[in-house]
Amino acid sequence: MSAHPRSILFVCLGNICRSPLAEGVMRQKVRQAGMEERFFLDSAGVGAWHVGNRPDRRSEAVGALHGADLSDLRARQVGLDDFYQFDLILAMDHSNLGDLEAMRPDNATAQLALYRAYCGEGALDVPDPYYGGDHGFEEVYQMIAKGSDALLAEAL
Ligand code: 4NP
Repeated sequence: MSAHPRSILFVCLGNICRSPLAEGVMRQKVRQAGMEERFFLDSAGVGAWHVGNRPDRRSEAVGALHGADLSDLRARQVGLDDFYQFDLILAMDHSNLGDLEAMRPDNATAQLALYRAYCGEGALDVPDPYYGGDHGFEEVYQMIAKGSDALLAEAL
């Protein structure tokens, strides 16, 4: 077992829908597995529109429905420091990945990848549910629950 915790940053556009759900669900699964010492988790947005805000109420609701409490999370924007602070930065969709690649410093140490591709699902997006209905949030939850299981399995 590595003494160094695995640090993962989840990134979407606004840091109020997908990436806080990815952080909250991963926290829940890590806690259930008794592996809190092994992970350092955070989330951030490419954009700054929602900095300081709680997650979207639909993300909080779908998280709560499945036992993940997102109420303490607050949105922040990705910064250049993140490319050195984290082992792994996971983008929720191709657009987020493109934005991260464009700002990535040449000597960045973080590995950058598409969330679902990294989790073994192929080069697929976690689609932005912001302008859709509640069903979109449940779909996002299901993708994230699967992804979180894969991230956890990697550490076992
Ligand atoms: P997220 O969803 O990237 O999953 O947090 C969005 C939240 C807000 C906006 C877009 C996507 N927005 O345009 O304000």
